Amino acid sequence: MQIIQDAYAAGQLVSGRPVVEMTSGNMGAGLAVVCNIMGNPFTAVMSAGNSPARAKMLESLGARVVLVPQVDGTPGQVTGPDIQAATAEAIRLAAETQAYYVDQFNNESSVRAHFNGTGPEVWRDLNGRLDAFVAAVGSGGTFIGSSKYLKQQEPKIVCAAVEPAGAEILAAKPVLSPKHNMQGIGYGIRVPQWNPNLVDEFLAVSSAEAAHYRQRLADREGLYVGYSAAANVCASIKLIQTGRLGKSPTVVTVLCDSGLKY
Ligand SMILES: Cc1ncc(COP(=O)(O)O)c(C=O)c1O
Repeated sequence: MQIIQDAYAAGQLVSGRPVVEMTSGNMGAGLAVVCNIMGNPFTAVMSAGNSPARAKMLESLGARVVLVPQVDGTPGQVTGPDIQAATAEAIRLAAETQAYYVDQFNNESSVRAHFNGTGPEVWRDLNGRLDAFVAAVGSGGTFIGSSKYLKQQEPKIVCAAVEPAGAEILAAKPVLSPKHNMQGIGYGIRVPQWNPNLVDEFLAVSSAEAAHYRQRLADREGLYVGYSAAANVCASIKLIQTGRLGKSPTVVTVLCDSGLKY
């Protein structure tokens, strides 16, 4: 909503103009809903490696879906080159249809949405009483926007970025295993809007750990979530176990998605 509203305010978008985005599903779902209401036909371009349930959901919300064949990933495991291929197709299609190309990785409104929304919501709901904020990084919107706001309120809040083990490019490690089960995060590419000053800790989670915590959240908490959400919980526990946060800390993390699409 923030992205579309900002594009309207900047005169880049008017009612009726098509909107195109490369999306693994969730940005697309949001755009589909908002574009529908605003009267902008929306096309989601995604790697064919994403689960078919994602395309089905987007189409149900009114989007047109274009699937781009995978380059080196396998179904359920979308890699950096897969994303690059889908991005190239989205850019081509946007030019061809004179559409507004959202470009979530570079779009500042994505960070602003979390700076104006998620960060203040966390701060308000906890009355400022939190020790750490933990979030996995896809486009980086969630981590960058929320951390920026929270650190402005209280610089001591530990902000921890989560990456798939073996695809820890933000932690400046070589990308050894770009394939993982955490759809929506860890593309092995440098996030354009990244701000290293916001990060106090990098945490890595393996595919096996994400799967384990996904099951554990279902068994113990009755929460049916996706792999990136499970990775966030796993990473939060790892952070607490370092002892860095002291006794009985309050850690906030994000359950990015339900498990239905995974
Ligand atoms: C399931 C899922 N988890 C995590 C993320 C990462 O969020 P962000 O792009 O804000 O870094 C996304 C983003 O699309 C996602 O779809």
